[in-house]
Order: sequence, then structure tokens, then C-alpha cells
Amino acid sequence: MAGTTAPNRTPEIKYTQIFINNEFVNSVSGKTFPTLNPCTEEKIADIQEGDKEDIQKAIDAAKEAFKLGSPWRRLDASKRGALLDKLADLIMRDAEYLSSLETLDNGKPYTNSYPTVVASASSIKYFAGWADKIQGKTIPIDGDYFCYTRHEPVGVCGQIIPWNFPILLMMWKLAPAIATGNVVIIKPAEQTPLTALYVAALVKEAGFPPGVINVVPGYGHTAGAALSGSMDVDKIAFTGSTEVGHLIMKAAAESNLKRPTLELGGKSPNVIFADADMDAAVMWAHEGVMYNSGQVCSAASRTFVQEDIYDTFVQKSVQIAKARSVGDPFDAATKNGPQIDDEQLKRVMELIESGKKEGAKLECGGERLGDKGYFVTPTVFSGVQDDMRIAKEEIFGPVQQIIKFKTMDEVIERANKTQYGLGAAIFTKDIDKAFTFSQAVKAGTVWVNCYNIISYMAPFGGFKMSGLGRELGEYGLQQYTEVKNVVVKIPQKNS
Ligand code: NAI
Ligand code: MG
Repeated sequence: MAGTTAPNRTPEIKYTQIFINNEFVNSVSGKTFPTLNPCTEEKIADIQEGDKEDIQKAIDAAKEAFKLGSPWRRLDASKRGALLDKLADLIMRDAEYLSSLETLDNGKPYTNSYPTVVASASSIKYFAGWADKIQGKTIPIDGDYFCYTRHEPVGVCGQIIPWNFPILLMMWKLAPAIATGNVVIIKPAEQTPLTALYVAALVKEAGFPPGVINVVPGYGHTAGAALSGSMDVDKIAFTGSTEVGHLIMKAAAESNLKRPTLELGGKSPNVIFADADMDAAVMWAHEGVMYNSGQVCSAASRTFVQEDIYDTFVQKSVQIAKARSVGDPFDAATKNGPQIDDEQLKRVMELIESGKKEGAKLECGGERLGDKGYFVTPTVFSGVQDDMRIAKEEIFGPVQQIIKFKTMDEVIERANKTQYGLGAAIFTKDIDKAFTFSQAVKAGTVWVNCYNIISYMAPFGGFKMSGLGRELGEYGLQQYTEVKNVVVKIPQKNS
């Protein structure tokens, strides 16, 4: 599928306004902000800049849509599913356009954005199927009572989206919230608002009642903070940096204790034992850290390799890193586009410099490519020690750290010696090693002989400072429902 469709290098920019109550409107302040093409650093479009007042308008619309007796609250659960299905169909109808828009705004290769658009539609279809299967229990409590639970929608949900997978992460939040009957206000990342705004138009076309899904583009410290600090927002879901995760949780705590779901950073260990299929492990480890120019929360950013195979592993990894093509994301041969913005480019380059200074061996890459656009050459460091910054901090760039280890006990301890706990992987042919590691490592997802296999059908999220709560799969539904327990007195004949 990927690569066989036709990208459009100059997709028309149709929507740049705030979407509230099924209408596109200008910001209250009249302010706009530019979204840039990360390949050229040039402006693509000016976007209406949402701030506190615009967020409040969206909250008011969402509250109205969620009122008891409203069309949305009265809609049959099966019809909610049908609306989501329709939205997924519209996304697939416009998949080439949406993928082109995503590539333009984010810089990721079209051969990657097309599959993420398809996965967005599939995720919606998956959650559409859950809409009429949200069931409580009947519980035989002591006494003459009939006791049952209802899984009710939480209410107004704020959803703050990052820029690394704009449309996909929007759907991972929107779909379960809507399937369970909530109403949402989505704040896309300021770097990548375009696909979210186009999806807003599809929301209207699909026939959702006004106010159920609202999209307010704007900055984090203004629009995002207004959402997370509001007394009228019942739940906040966030994907992004651990630093902002702290702010979101603080804002929730200081306002109305809205329920947070946080999907944050990582420094995921990928452990390669000497008995592994070497070439497969090299490839998975490479893709695991280089995919999406390294801008993946679960990136395999610590590659632990057992000492007997260390040198060969490094040599093979360098070979494929050197061959990885960086450049025009509309070219089907391109594997890596640019980093998202100047800030990320500077951060990646600064961490690469720190790696060199702290004594890691730069095997290849480590440079900015060209002087326009935020391109970084695929980089491999060997001789990396646990206390170096590149082994501790999230880089979010195409930078592989290869670290040597000897034994299972040692590698488990070192793998867990981090504030993060998002992903982890082991490559081995020994089933005992696979189970030992899978049980001992502190991470929300463990991959055995593969990496970054993430499905909307299975839970995703972090241990420790990588997050709070799980998204996706049946587990993901829990974040969007409140459990109500109802106890009814049963009259007894003899009483
Ligand atoms: P960020 O955490 O600042 O941005 C993510 C989203 O949060 C954006 O929509 C932004 O507008 C919003 N936001 C920012 N400040 C906010 C606030 N005070 N209140 C509410 N919302 C706020 O991430 P940034 O600065 O773009 O990237 C910094 C680092 O974060 C990256 O280098 C990477 O390490 C990490 N990151 C992790 C992601 C993940 O998938 N877990 C995604 C993006 C970034
Ligand atoms: Mg942009």
C-alpha cells in the first residue's frame, strides 16, 4: 500500500480556522501563528491562534452538546459507532490528500505518512466497534439489593496532541473518547495543525452533532494550559514531554482534579544477546531508533549489545546507518525527513556534541545536512557509558547509542536504571532469557525479537515517568468512562 499511492507536493490548504460547534471561526484575539515546512523553514499558512477565550468557547459548546437530553446523549450507542465508521471512511476517501498534508506540515516521508493515515482510519473503526459494547456488571452484594454498574462517559475531555504523529495520535485519543460517548476539545501541536483541521471538516461531513468534537489550534502555554487548568474540563489526555506532563498534572491537581492520561518520554532499552539472529537484530535496532527521524516516544534509544558480538554489531549498524537516505520526504526512496523544528534540531545537535565531549565514539553521522531545513544525518555512537547524557536523556533524533553488556543480571539492572519505562526489547533465541527479561524489565510494552510493534488493539503507555494510564485496546476505554454503582432495594414478600 505505502508508496504505491500518489503524493501531492502542493496540497491545497483548505482550513486554517478554529473549529467549534461544527463551524470554522477566527480567534477571539484576531491573532494567527504560522505553521512551517520543516524542509524549507518557509511558512505554509497562517493559522488562527486559539487562546483562553477560544478554549472557553469550545468548552461551552462541548458542555452544551453533553447536556442530558441533548442529541448526542440521546443517540443510540450503535449510532455513535456508525458515525465513527463514517469518519473512518471519509479519512480513507481522502487518504492521499491527508498523507500529503501530513508530509508537508511534519516533514515525515510520504511512505510513512500514508500508512499512519490508514492506521488512523483503522483505529477509529476498531473503537467504533466498541461503542455498543461498553457494559457494566451486576454484583450480588449482601442483602436484598439489586446492584449494577454503569460505565458512563466522563464528560468534556481535553486532548493535547504532539507533532510527531499528528493525525494518528489525534485519532488514538478522539476515537475511544467518542466511542464511549464523551465530547472533546482537541489542541493539535502548534507545529502541525493542518491535518487536525482537515479532519474537523470531515467530522462535520460525517454528521456528528455540533459541539461533540472541537479543534482549537494554538500554543501549549496558552491554549493547552487553559484546557488543563479549566474547572469545566472533566478529563485531560496528553502526549508529549515529561516536563509538560508535570505541568498538566499540576494544573489538574490545582483545578478540579480532572482525570489525567499522560503518555510521555522514554529512554527505551533494546537488549541484544549473542545468540540472537544478528542481521535481524541489527535491522530492528536501527529502525527502532531511526524511524520518523528518531521522533518516537518509544524509540530504541539505548541499544545494549552483549560483548561477544559487540564489535560486529557496531560495524553492521554503522553500515546501514550510512546507507539510510535523508532528504525530500515526497521522494519514495527517502527514509528520514527533517526534525520538526529549529528547537528540536538544536536539541539533537547539542546532545550529539555532549556525546562526543563525554567520550563516546562517533562512528558516523552527527551533522546537520544542508543549511535549509532541519535535517540530521543518521548517527551512531559506540563506547557509550550509562552515565553519559546521550544514554540518559531523550534525544528524539536519529541517534543510536550502542552500549556493551556481559550478563543478564547486569543488563536488567542497567536497563531499569532510568526514570523512564515506556518500551523495552530483547533479542535472543533462548526462551528462558526472553521470559526472564520480559518479567524483570519495568516498561509498559516489551518486545521479543521485534521492536515498536504498536497496535490500536493492545494497551500502550508507560511505567514510572513515562506516563500515567494506558491508551488503546480495551484498557484504553477505562480512561474515558466513570464507573457508577447503582444499588436498588428489592422489596421482599415477607418484609
Ligand atoms: P511539548 O510537550 O512541549 O509539546 C507537546 C504538546 O503539548 C503540544 O501540543 C504543545 O502545544 C503542548 N504543550 C506545551 N506546553 C504546554 C502546557 N504548558 N500546557 C499544556 N499543553 C502544553 O513537547 P515539545 O516541546 O514539542 O518537545 C520537547 C520534547 O518532548 C521532545 O524533544 C521529546 O523529547 C518530547 N516529546 C515526546 C513526545 C511523545 O511522543 N511522547 C512527543 C513530542 C515531544
Ligand atoms: Mg508545521
